[in-house]
Amino acid sequence: MKNITIICNWKLNGNKKLINIFLKKLINFFKTLDEHKKKYIKVIFSPPILYLDYSYKIINKNKEIYLCSQNVDINENGSFTGEISAKMLKDIGVSYVILGHSERRKYHNESDYDISEKFFSVKNNELTPILCIGENLNDYENLKTEKICISQINTIIKKYGIEIMFNSIIAYEPIWAIGTGNYASKEHINKVFNFIKNYLNSFCDNINNKIKFYYGGSISSYNSEDLINNNIIDGLLIGKSSLYIDEILNIINNYIK
Ligand code: PGA
Repeated sequence: MKNITIICNWKLNGNKKLINIFLKKLINFFKTLDEHKKKYIKVIFSPPILYLDYSYKIINKNKEIYLCSQNVDINENGSFTGEISAKMLKDIGVSYVILGHSERRKYHNESDYDISEKFFSVKNNELTPILCIGENLNDYENLKTEKICISQINTIIKKYGIEIMFNSIIAYEPIWAIGTGNYASKEHINKVFNFIKNYLNSFCDNINNKIKFYYGGSISSYNSEDLINNNIIDGLLIGKSSLYIDEILNIINNYIK
């Protein structure tokens, strides 16, 4: 059995009541698991930033659940009205930050350059970046997937060197799979990850031990087993299905049964 991490990306959804119910059920579920099984599963909870501090108080010192921000600013402090820094996220007990999500690229015009600056700030504050990459349908159909993914990673490597990627997570999230009910086939995911790994290995050895590779896009309890059983995948980034605690518990139960 391999270690598996499940990221629950709540996007712009939820409220205190729903978060409370979700986290308490999750905590109680982990209490029922035997120690042996427990150590293979980790959940990363990513509510709207506003609720991170509230969530932290519920999770307390629970070792199976970690907190993740859906965004961060480039700057650490100063006159940047409305922004939140990596330093502040660290201060309230957050461990991970999602960067480069296609919704932020689309609705907030985030460029690869912006993302590379955020990546630096996150690493500089000893948080773990979850770098989302992936192509749109047009690029997928025109066989440009690998080219797009590499260019999204390259801006960071060119500016800061390969070392900055160590101990981070790369989440492959094809845009055509997010929220559509279509998910990428095993063959496609393996082809993309193998290409990326070979590329990264051209900078340094043993990339498998230095970077984790996750998949995201229309994951539910119906397809999670296939994805988890694919050895190339270290974790799942789940959007819509993660709003339902029963879905998350089914996904975990299907894996550990
Ligand atoms: P989805 O979203 O699971 O609803 O497709 C995934 C994501 O955007 O991270």
